This record gives sequence, C-alpha cells and structure tokens, in this order.
Amino acid sequence: MAVDVPSLKLSEQSFYILRELFERECGIHLHTDKKMLVVSRLQRRLELRHLQGFEDYCALLKQPAEAEERQWMVDALTTHETFFFRAPNQFQHLTRHALPMLAHRPLRIWSAAASTGEEAYSLAMTLAETLGAAGWELLGSDISGRAVWHAARGLYPLSRLEEMPKEYLKKYCRKGLGEYAGQLLVNRSLRARTQFFRHNLLDSAAKIGSFDVIFLRNVLIYFDPPRRRQILRNMLARLRPGGYLYIGHSESASDELVELESVGHSAWRSKQTNDMQRMAP
Ligand SMILES: C[S@@+](CC[C@H](N)C(=O)[O-])C[C@H]1O[C@@H](n2cnc3c(N)ncnc32)[C@H](O)[C@@H]1O
Repeated sequence: MAVDVPSLKLSEQSFYILRELFERECGIHLHTDKKMLVVSRLQRRLELRHLQGFEDYCALLKQPAEAEERQWMVDALTTHETFFFRAPNQFQHLTRHALPMLAHRPLRIWSAAASTGEEAYSLAMTLAETLGAAGWELLGSDISGRAVWHAARGLYPLSRLEEMPKEYLKKYCRKGLGEYAGQLLVNRSLRARTQFFRHNLLDSAAKIGSFDVIFLRNVLIYFDPPRRRQILRNMLARLRPGGYLYIGHSESASDELVELESVGHSAWRSKQTNDMQRMAP
C-alpha cells in the first residue's frame, strides 16, 4: 500500500530565495501560485540530501561549491513535457516547404530546447527520410543536464509514441527486450548523428555556429517579454540567411520577429540578407 509522505512546509522567505536562485540559473520567473509545485518537485531533493527543511536547502544552494545541486533544482523545476513528432504539421512543413528551399550541404539543424530528445530524434528521422544518411548535422540542447543525459541515451517508454509514423518506428527504432521491455531505443546510427549538450538559451550560442533550421518550441512561454526578446535575438543571430525558425503553436512572437517572414505553421523565415542587427534591442 502506498504511504503518503507529508509535504514539508515552505515559508514565504524560503520560497522567495528559491525563486530568486532559480531565476538566476535559468531566467524563468516563478509566480507565487507555484509554491505548492516547488514543494512537490523539490521535496525529493531534500530527502536525498538528508535535510530537515527548505531553510537548510536554501542555505545549501547558496554555497558556491553546490553548483551540481543548483543544477538538480533547475532540472526539477523546469517543465520537460515533450513527445515524438509533437505538432506533426511543423514536420510536414519542414519536409515540404523548408528543406526544398535549402540547397546547400551540409544543412545544420538545432533543436534548441530539446528536453529529453524526442523533438531532436523526430527531426533526425525526418532528415534521414528526406535527405538520406548524409548532408545534414543535427544538434540538440537544453539547460537541464538530466534531460540532456536522457536525450543522448535515446531510450523511451513506448507510451510516448502516439504521433510517430509506424514505418519510422520500424526503420529507426528497436523495441527493448528483457529489462528494457516496454521501451524503445533509437537506432545507433541516428543517435550517433545527433549531438546533445547543455546550453542556456539566454547565453550567446556564437560558439556553436550558424543554422539553417532552428526548432525553438514550447519554451518561450516560460519567460517574461524582455527575456523572450533576448532569447529570440540569440536565435536570430544564429539563423543563416534564408533559414527557418519554428516556435510552438501557443507562442506568439510576432513583435520580436518582424524582420522575418511568417511562412505559416508558426514558422518564420529569415530574409536572404543577414541583416539581423536591425532588430530592436
Ligand atoms: C516543455 S519543454 C519543450 C521541449 C520540446 N521543444 C517540445 O516542444 O516538445 C521545455 C524545455 O525548455 C528547457 N529550458 C527551460 N529554460 C531554459 C533555458 N534558459 N535554456 C535552455 N533550455 C531551457 C527545459 O529544461 C525544458 O526541457
């Protein structure tokens, strides 16, 4: 029989400290109505660290040597909801409209808030189907180290496959056996072609070069308008002339993206000239 573990108390003061630390790490501001969510998502960390209460946890997080614990806090408090071929019309748009317009090789594609990797592998399958095994490079990044670790592993519960075309399942995945029963593993060849790394969208991504296609879906919604603009500026600085940016269907970014052409399905195309400096700060 499952036993309910009583919730720990989170004082207003500790909530404000946690909120500030979280915002400093990843730029997301937690509203006061998220207090219970903070308790439920962090309680396990306190147990694992053998702490009596949130005051102790706040004191721990403030220590310079506890960078790893701050990472755990970010992992726990960010929302990683994702699944294969989420918003399938955007993958169709990529195949039918964007890829035929992008002639040079290798194409560089970035899943910029990749979570546990389902979006990046959906892109890898789409690219392998459309372009074949060569001629493209795919990167996936997320602020959560744990999500990145899951992504690189490429092992998923079968329940997350609703939108995946059946023929892709056969071609690009293997069903797990024994201890992996009920799971699927993305084929080694696709895993080897997809590189995952930790990256904060608020930081410059100049080091990783420029891209023909960027998927930045279902992440802008978590940020306030100034940070949304900062993230979009960072993305646009990495988008090649004529390149495509896909955002989530529930995200509106029209003010920030005035310099781009809207091409439907929450996709935006950069103009052929690379004159992104004209964007308002
Ligand atoms: C809801 S998931 C979206 C996953 C995928 N793009 C999709 O649409 O299915 C949002 C992801 O954004 C990541 N995230 C939140 N803040 C971030 C930041 N500052 N930099 C990079 N990734 C961030 C979270 O860790 C989470 O995995």
